[in-house]
Amino acid sequence: MTEPSATFLLFGATGDLARRMIFPSLYNLLADGLLPDDFMIVASGRSEMSDDAFQKDVCAALRQFLPNDRYDDDVAARLREMICYQPVDAAKPEQFAALAQRIDGRLERGLSIYLSTPPALFAPTAQGLADAGLIAANTRIAMEKPIGKDLASSKQVNDGIGALFAEEQIFRVDHYLGKETVQNLLALRFGNVMFEPLWNTGAIDHVQITVGETVGLEGRVSYYDGVGALRDMVQNHILQILSIITMEPPARMDPTAVRDEKVKALRSLRPMTAETVKTHSVRGQYTPGAVQGEIVTGYADELGQPSDTETFVALKAYIDNWRWQGVPFYLRTGKRMPARQSEILIQFKPVRHSIFWRAGHGTGLEPNTLIIRLQPEEYIRLLIMSKRPGLERQVHLEEVTLDVSLTAAFAGQRRRIAYERLILDLLAGDQTLFVRRDEVEAQWTWIDSIIDGWKEANMKVAPYSSGNWGPSSAIALIERDGASWHD
Ligand code: BG6
Repeated sequence: MTEPSATFLLFGATGDLARRMIFPSLYNLLADGLLPDDFMIVASGRSEMSDDAFQKDVCAALRQFLPNDRYDDDVAARLREMICYQPVDAAKPEQFAALAQRIDGRLERGLSIYLSTPPALFAPTAQGLADAGLIAANTRIAMEKPIGKDLASSKQVNDGIGALFAEEQIFRVDHYLGKETVQNLLALRFGNVMFEPLWNTGAIDHVQITVGETVGLEGRVSYYDGVGALRDMVQNHILQILSIITMEPPARMDPTAVRDEKVKALRSLRPMTAETVKTHSVRGQYTPGAVQGEIVTGYADELGQPSDTETFVALKAYIDNWRWQGVPFYLRTGKRMPARQSEILIQFKPVRHSIFWRAGHGTGLEPNTLIIRLQPEEYIRLLIMSKRPGLERQVHLEEVTLDVSLTAAFAGQRRRIAYERLILDLLAGDQTLFVRRDEVEAQWTWIDSIIDGWKEANMKVAPYSSGNWGPSSAIALIERDGASWHD
C-alpha cells in the first residue's frame, strides 16, 4: 500500500449522494483526524458555480445530514477551506484542462477520483482526464453503481475504464461493503470456531436474506423506472451479502484472497431459465397503501403512468457447489415494505433424533435459527432449545434466544456512514471492500439469466399494497417448501 492520496476529485458533486453521504463522510474523517495533511477536495459538476457558492452548499448539506451532536462549525470551516469547485461537462474536453490546472503540481502525491455520475459518463470522463494528463500510475478511480444494466453494458463500462486504468487502480463501489455489519459477517464466520463446521448443507436447511425498505421512489423516477429492484438491489447489495455468507474461507484478509473466494461463490449460482423463474421468482410493484401509519401512493401514480418495473423481487436461488448443494437461498427486497429491515436468517436442520419425543407432542424440538440483523438495529440472535424449569417427570423444552446486541456491545462507538470506510480505503489504495471486474460480471451473468427468463416467460409484475411484504406469491414461493419468511 502506498501513501494516501492527497487529492480527492469528485464528479457528480452537486448530486444527492454527494450531499447526503460523501461530504458528511469527508467531514467525519476530517473530524477524526483521518484525512492526510494538505488534503484537497476538488468538486466537479456540470453547473457553473463559484467556489464560494459550492462551499456554502456543502455547509448547508452538512448541517442537514449530520446529527446535531456531531456537527461542529470549526470542523465545517476546515472542510470548507479544503474544497474548490470546477465545472466540468464530460462532453466538453476543453473543460478538463481547467480542471488539470486546479490539480497542477499535486498529481504525484496521489489523486483519487470518485465518479458519482450516471455510468454513461464514466468512460468519457476517464478519457477527458487522460487527455488532460491527470492519470498517473498512482491515480485511482472509484465508480458508483450501477455498472451497466446487464452483462454486455457492464463490459462496455469496464472496457472503457479498463482502457485507461489498470484493475489495481479501479475501485467499484458497493456501499453495503462499507457497512460495519456486512464486514462483521466475515468476523462472525471466520473469527469464531463454532459456526464454520456447521456452515454447509449438512446442517443448514435454508437461508433467507431480506432487505426491506419503507421508502418509495423518492424522486428517482428517471433512474429507477426500467431498472427495478433486481438490478438496483439484488445484482449488487444482496449478491454481495450472499457471496460473503457462502464463500469458502479466504486464506488472508487481502483483496485478492477475499475476492477470489467471493467470485467462486457467485459463479456457482445456478442460472435461472424461463421455466424456473415461474416457480423461483416473484416480481411485484407497490400500489397505494399505508406504511407505518402513513398513507402513500402507488408506484404507477408516482411515475404518472403504468409501468412494468418491479419494486419488489423474491428469489429462490441455489449455489451449486460441494458446500451448498440442495440448500435454497430465499432472497427478497422491496420498496414500501412494512419496515426498514435487513437481515440474514440461517435455518438449521432438525436434530437427527429427538430423545424428548412424546406421543401427541412430536419431537418437542424446534430447529436452531441464527438471525443476523444488519439494519437498522444490529444484533445476532441464536434460537436454541432449553429445558423449561420444573419438576415434571417429562422434560419440557422451550425455544429461548441467545441475544447479542452489537449496538449495545459497542455503545460508546459512533455508527459510521458506510462511505467513510470506503473513502478511507480508496485514499489508501485498499481494494478489499471494492468489487472486482470478474465479480461484477459474475453477478450480471446470473441476473441476466433471470431477466431473460422473465422476458421469455412474459412475467409481469404482481401488485402489492404498500406496507406489505410483497405480493402473496412471494409468501407462496417459500411456503411451498414448508418454510416461511421471518417477518
Ligand atoms: C441504493 C439503491 O444502492 O441502496 C437504493 O439504489 C436503495 O434504491 C439504497 O434505497 C439502500 O441503501 P441503504 O444503505 O439505505 O440500505
